[in-house]
Amino acid sequence: MIILAIETSCDETSAAVLKDGREVLSNVISSQIEFHKKYGGIVPELASRKHIEVINPIIQEALDKANVKFKDLGAVAVTHGPGLVGSLLVGICAAKAISYSLNIPLVGVNHLEAHIYANYLDQNPKLPFICLLVSGGHTMLVMVKDHGKYKVLGRTRDDAAGEAFDKVARFLKLGYPGGPIIDKLAKEGNPNAIKFTRPMIEDGYDFSFSGIKTAVVNYYGKLSVVGSKLLVDIAASFQQTVVEVLTTKTIRAAKDNKCETIALAGGVSANSGLRKALMEKGQEQGLVVHIPPLNLCTDNAAMVGCLAHYLLKQGKVSDLKLPAVASLRL
Ligand code: KG4
Ligand code: ZN
Repeated sequence: MIILAIETSCDETSAAVLKDGREVLSNVISSQIEFHKKYGGIVPELASRKHIEVINPIIQEALDKANVKFKDLGAVAVTHGPGLVGSLLVGICAAKAISYSLNIPLVGVNHLEAHIYANYLDQNPKLPFICLLVSGGHTMLVMVKDHGKYKVLGRTRDDAAGEAFDKVARFLKLGYPGGPIIDKLAKEGNPNAIKFTRPMIEDGYDFSFSGIKTAVVNYYGKLSVVGSKLLVDIAASFQQTVVEVLTTKTIRAAKDNKCETIALAGGVSANSGLRKALMEKGQEQGLVVHIPPLNLCTDNAAMVGCLAHYLLKQGKVSDLKLPAVASLRL
């Protein structure tokens, strides 16, 4: 079964072609980051217009790279939330047109769930497992009990982890998006140079990142001169704080819930400090740790196609009324 998958929930237009759900024949991603950089963040109306400009060429490129024709497709999958409603609509309209004209099933996919399924593309996590889902809009600890069966153990009470990276970078005038920039700077800094408090590290499974962001802002605001050495130390210390909170809670959730396996998902899982710490500390505790390859961490359509494969197996298809749901929950 050949699935065409489409992802347009935020600022990446992506189309992928998958064979039998786990073999990625193509995964084309067109990012709008360069375009939004000058605004210091994503401008939703402009994002949807950019998706409209590139959606058809990106779909064609994905088919060409996979050496597949429209007539070969067995199903079309698309993210229908959460995300920016105008952006989501572009992908949904394209997918509906393809489904209708080829008379093939349409599969609406939850973007958060798709991030989790990036772990099924080159690995096979043993169920049940704990997934730390960290993106620009969401931070949650999820127990994946079975395909399609989730228990959300905790979530952020304020900023998402990626949002904290982006806001701190904006405040330090480092550029957008903040995650990859701070990650790069942190490699040159001393993570123990500044001791920011680790909020809620001992309490439950919920997170709070707004306090860390404020602590960095206050620390920076009190400095009269900021040399490049201090800047890399701030980046490294901030990153280390976020990583420690995320890692500690994920491992505790696995132990408490007697899960032997943990997985990482979402854009922040591209963070080198987080990848290293979760792998090392998880393995120290005897856990099996799954981390998707870098190109599958940030938004992409391959993860959407992978999830669609499992949904199709359960007979979960959508109809042509499939709506864009900006605040779709897991
Ligand atoms: O999952 P994603 O691509 O989009 C959403 O669904 O939100 O995540 C984007 C987020 C942004 O906040 C970005 O700064 C963050 O992921 N991110 C990173 C890194 N790469 C992307 N955060 C920390 N370190 C990185 N290397
Ligand atoms: Zn995402």
